Amino acid sequence: MNHLIVYAHPHQGSFNNAILDTVTAALKAKGHEICVRDLYKLNFHPVLTPTDTASLREGRAPADIKTEQEHLANADVITFIYPIWWTGLPAIIKGYVDRTFSYGFAYQYNSEGGIDKLFTGKKGILINTYGTPGDVYETSGMNEALRKTSESGIFDFCGIEVLEHFLFGGVTSVATDETRKEMLARVHDKFSSF
Ligand SMILES: Cc1cc2nc3c(=O)[nH]c(=O)nc-3n(C[C@H](O)[C@H](O)[C@H](O)COP(=O)(O)O)c2cc1C
Repeated sequence: MNHLIVYAHPHQGSFNNAILDTVTAALKAKGHEICVRDLYKLNFHPVLTPTDTASLREGRAPADIKTEQEHLANADVITFIYPIWWTGLPAIIKGYVDRTFSYGFAYQYNSEGGIDKLFTGKKGILINTYGTPGDVYETSGMNEALRKTSESGIFDFCGIEVLEHFLFGGVTSVATDETRKEMLARVHDKFSSF
């Protein structure tokens, strides 16, 4: 299977980086094709500009968008790994979605007034970490909001079937080394199942 991993974290020694290593190791062990797009290393430009929109309207994707869209088109499974910042996606990966999940490539309106989901057939996994304890976000409804906005609002909107959404809370507060290891073990198990 072709796995595309879109990764957004600025620090090498982060827990998100440990998650990325866990995902790639598990997939490599099973012999899958893996393409990692590390958005900070790529210095990905996250702002959808007037030049971008003009080109996209004419059916021409700018070179950097085209490159990412080729990776997306090739993928059977698309995995996003990012920390929750201000209860959402860090700007660099939000901008990746703004620019690459473009109209006519990821979705389009049809003559019945509905949406054609152009990524139909692809599968997806979301892996997020955040600092607030998980039970606080569960009871406040924030986990549900995170699920709704990224699973329904982004992946399913374009037809990507969400296989799993890991929401790892408390990683900078209540989590111990033991619980962090358990989180990585859950990630390892999921990616070993492909
Ligand atoms: C700019 C910024 C915004 C953040 N916003 C939130 C937030 O809205 N909710 C939360 O629980 N944690 C928030 N955090 C904490 C991060 O989610 C947490 O540090 C990260 O998930 C830990 O994983 P890491 O070690 O890989 O960075 C924020 C951190 C930063 C730097």
